[in-house]
Amino acid sequence: MRTRFIDDFLASDPQTAQTVILGAGLDTRAYRLPWPDGATVIEIDHANVLEFKASVMTGLSVEPACELITVATDLSRPWREPLLAAGFDPKQPTTWVLEGLLPYLDAAAQLAVLAEVAALSASGSRVVIERAVALPKTDNLEAKLHDFSLQTGLSMSELLARADPPDPVELLESDCWRCSEHSVPELCSLYGRNLSLTESTEADVAETAAPGPEQTGDSGTSGRSRGGFVTAWRA
Ligand SMILES: C[S@@+](CC[C@H](N)C(=O)[O-])C[C@H]1O[C@@H](n2cnc3c(N)ncnc32)[C@H](O)[C@@H]1O
Repeated sequence: MRTRFIDDFLASDPQTAQTVILGAGLDTRAYRLPWPDGATVIEIDHANVLEFKASVMTGLSVEPACELITVATDLSRPWREPLLAAGFDPKQPTTWVLEGLLPYLDAAAQLAVLAEVAALSASGSRVVIERAVALPKTDNLEAKLHDFSLQTGLSMSELLARADPPDPVELLESDCWRCSEHSVPELCSLYGRNLSLTESTEADVAETAAPGPEQTGDSGTSGRSRGGFVTAWRA
């Protein structure tokens, strides 16, 4: 649903000639989506990730369906200069994609990335953001992270930011963006899917579905983001 939702967002109007995918990872949208003539996609991630993907795609003899530019840089540090050096034009409207990235940045870095997206967005820009959900503050959190680390071979405690994430809606609305929020239950309904929920995700989804500040028009000031997506447009 996450992939489809973002694909649909990118295909919807008004499209922009320039798209930036932050924390692109193994995203293959530059290769598989029907981009309009003249479209440029800029992917940002760590060098080793971008190199791995390029080697796989070259091995498959597939070509991007747009002009694809990759920028190897660390998004937890200032990244404006490498983006501009790669040919990003801040005077043009941009579509930004933040999918699966924010949980890997601490709260300060999330705030800095969102602020930079806003600062680099000309009129007519738009963004889709997969929200970071604050990890539940349960007694067994450390044990669960440890088990997950053993399963995946990755240090989850280091990878997943712990601090309460900033609310993208609050930040963007204060900068005159028009925001829409899309909860997980809304996506289930949109795409006709039922999630087989575990106890903890059930609680998360129930919280997402419960009438909260965002459903009443107030973006909320609790600092507790609720998962799902935010889409936003700058007039
Ligand atoms: C869970 S993956 C998501 C990839 C892709 N957007 C998707 O949804 O399939 C997170 C990606 O963010 C990248 N990432 C995490 N922290 C980063 C940082 N500080 N700078 C650049 N990239 C980062 C990782 O390398 C990884 O490719």
